[in-house]
Amino acid sequence: MSLKFKNPRAKFDFQGRTCSITGVGSYVPEKVLTNADLEKMVDTTDEWITTRTGIKERRISAKEEFTSDMAAKAAQRAMKMAGVTAAQIDLIIIATITPDMPFPATACFVQQKIGAKRAAAFDLEAACSGFIYGLEIGQQFIMSRTHDTVLVIGAEKLSAITDWKDRNTCVLFGDGAGAAVLQNRENSHGLLTAVMGADGSKANLLFMPGGGSRCPATKDSVDARQHFLHMSGKETFKNAVQAMCSAAQEVLRRCEVDITRIKCVIPHQANRRIIDAVGERLGATPEQMFINVDRYGNTSAASVAIALDEAVASGKIQRGDLVLLVVFGAGLTWGAAVIEW
Ligand SMILES: CC(C)(COP(=O)(O)OP(=O)(O)OC[C@H]1O[C@@H](n2cnc3c(N)ncnc32)[C@H](O)[C@@H]1OP(=O)(O)O)[C@@H](O)C(=O)NCCC(=O)NCCS
Repeated sequence: MSLKFKNPRAKFDFQGRTCSITGVGSYVPEKVLTNADLEKMVDTTDEWITTRTGIKERRISAKEEFTSDMAAKAAQRAMKMAGVTAAQIDLIIIATITPDMPFPATACFVQQKIGAKRAAAFDLEAACSGFIYGLEIGQQFIMSRTHDTVLVIGAEKLSAITDWKDRNTCVLFGDGAGAAVLQNRENSHGLLTAVMGADGSKANLLFMPGGGSRCPATKDSVDARQHFLHMSGKETFKNAVQAMCSAAQEVLRRCEVDITRIKCVIPHQANRRIIDAVGERLGATPEQMFINVDRYGNTSAASVAIALDEAVASGKIQRGDLVLLVVFGAGLTWGAAVIEW
């Protein structure tokens, strides 16, 4: 049977295995924070937030609910779908900018919480692009036959680094986690290709200045609100659209498919206007675009992972469909991937 797309990895003398997502899962906290709630906290309106961002509500984790708790719950759901036990997991990669603490890695806490005693565990930091970075890194271990089962998780408690007095940013973000189990599955191409990119010259557009070696926590740093995220909204917006479009076009080109062949586009859920602009430039129809930013806001590394899980659960993606993931985040970083689901 002739292939309906090109597998870019086939150009190499490819002795490895293909890597598929055999299970997905997600978790969002119970507490809903609506735009009406925010109207009582800062000088904003539901109308402003809705027209500028498309966000209606977001989830906020409980005081004693940490990134690792949400990650573990999402992971367990993904493992159930994949039919894998904790003992089978070889490696846990967690993409997050809100680890439980600077060290040890949140992945180590998750390893304990899910009982994956054999698994190696580390965190990766690529902000909102982290889940695609994680998929691309994770698949290397499957393709090379180093590992059989890799867990990739995007998890964030952004409410912990959000300045609830800054209306420019506090309306945008939310908490949650999404997970994927990576394994070889026979007769499936799985993750066909991925692009990862970065531009450190624009690190100043979206960042949290405090808490690292450059600006350790002091009373002054706390008073100066250095331990919250800071953002230049307009510049970030422009860069997001441009980088997401070129990353998406690159992976489509590599697979020799045009956008009409993609069943579902899952963009980073930062802002409805960014999603619409990216969809329009790629020539995707509204039906192809998966959108849940209205319900969760921007959950950074968790965003596309949660969306992928919801797209699969809703039946929008069936086995054999081509799926396009495309992300953008602080760094700046960006990424895109084509998956044969
Ligand atoms: C943040 C963002 C929604 C702002 O939208 P925008 O169209 O650039 O903003 P506008 O220029 O229309 O409005 C800015 C004005 O609204 C005000 N404003 C900002 N937040 C507001 C809020 N929550 N409610 C009411 N007014 C607000 C600003 O103070 C500013 O007022 P001024 O002109 O008097 O100074 C938009 O820039 C954005 O989405 N950027 C990308 C953010 C993002 O996705 N980051 C994560 C990437 S991973």
